[in-house]
Amino acid sequence: MRILVTGGAGFIGSNFILYWLKNHPEDEITNLDALTYAGNLANLKSVENQDNYTFVHGNICDRELVEKVTQNMDLIVHFAAESHVDRSILNPEVFLQTNVLGTFNLLEAAVKNKVAHFHHISTDEVFGSLPLETTEKFTLSTKYDPRSPYSASKASSDHLVRAYGETYGLSYTITNCSNNYGPFQFPEKLFGLAITNIIEDKKVPVYGDGLNVRDWLFVTDHCAAIEAVIKSAAHDKTYLVGGLKKDVSNLEIVRLILKLMGKSEAEIEFVQDRPGHDRRYSVDWSQINQDLGWQPTVTLEEGLQQTINWYQENRSWWQPLKDKTASFFAQNYKKKV
Ligand code: NAD
Ligand code: DAU
Repeated sequence: MRILVTGGAGFIGSNFILYWLKNHPEDEITNLDALTYAGNLANLKSVENQDNYTFVHGNICDRELVEKVTQNMDLIVHFAAESHVDRSILNPEVFLQTNVLGTFNLLEAAVKNKVAHFHHISTDEVFGSLPLETTEKFTLSTKYDPRSPYSASKASSDHLVRAYGETYGLSYTITNCSNNYGPFQFPEKLFGLAITNIIEDKKVPVYGDGLNVRDWLFVTDHCAAIEAVIKSAAHDKTYLVGGLKKDVSNLEIVRLILKLMGKSEAEIEFVQDRPGHDRRYSVDWSQINQDLGWQPTVTLEEGLQQTINWYQENRSWWQPLKDKTASFFAQNYKKKV
């Protein structure tokens, strides 16, 4: 099978390529990535010389290029996106360009070149925010209610994918997944930032009261979920993917990281809250479990320990990225008033 992966130099995309080539050496992967601040070819060093892996440096907004690289593809797995909520608040335009118009380009090219299947990687954030102190979960019938420029752009891309299925007969699947963590995550997201700040002897910033809840999934479990959906030959279907059975607040996550790294809670710094900060996410992943037998295999404690070990062993990977990101950190983080 010839697979076009978009955004394969990013966090989840690179984990997916490594996962797929290991488990499906008979397949060929072309990775189309613009190498934005979040893309890093070092993630793919171990496969870069393999005959069944090709890298194309380019933007999914470049229509001509996208038409060319989608020729003769059997499958598109679409990860490429601007992915950080805080950046979408400071600079929303690029989120609309990549996440909406870039996805539109890929869909157009997929139809034109008769690509057999399109798998779209999406997020649970399209469903908005759940209240604290409930057991309510996002389900397949939850209405879309995006509340940040990032989630609105991802919701838009989901609608476009479904519209191309209905209108042009494009075979598609969508996975809406919860928060991923693990190796190769850019050190601006909560886990990577907290762990690397601790290594650097800096405080760990917690937004607002720290009681916001996310549903965490180790990245290789997400890759396995995508694999299960692709292999099922399902079409025109959506699956929700999540990791936890009980709520864990950001503050509890940070406390756990500090404990595992032998530090005290004095390292926590409460900072100004994210505007429009979604309060709680919780994902009902029973459908993918029922239909395809998928379930998370890595517990939060195991995944956290693996992630901490990885950042401790790979300072040369993250330190330059963090140093280059200083101006974003300065703009984003404000003292609590
Ligand atoms: P990331 O920011 O780490 O990586 C994004 C990748 O896309 C980078 O390699 C970047 O260079 C590339 N890219 C960005 N704009 C591009 C463009 N215009 N053309 C080509 N390439 C471009 O993101 P991630 O965390 O790996 O997320 C991947 C996908 O998964 C995204 O679609 C995101 O919405 C979705 N998702 C992420 C999470 C999470 O917790 N990180 C959870 C659910 C869904
Ligand atoms: O839910 C899936 C989404 O998860 C993905 O679609 C996004 O691409 C991904 O970035 C992630 O979005 P979040 O905004 O939930 O992740 P982030 O790591 O930025 O924040 C997690 C929680 O931690 C959130 O409630 C905000 C809080 N936070 C985050 C940072 C970076 C802090 O308290 N302090 C911080 O410094």
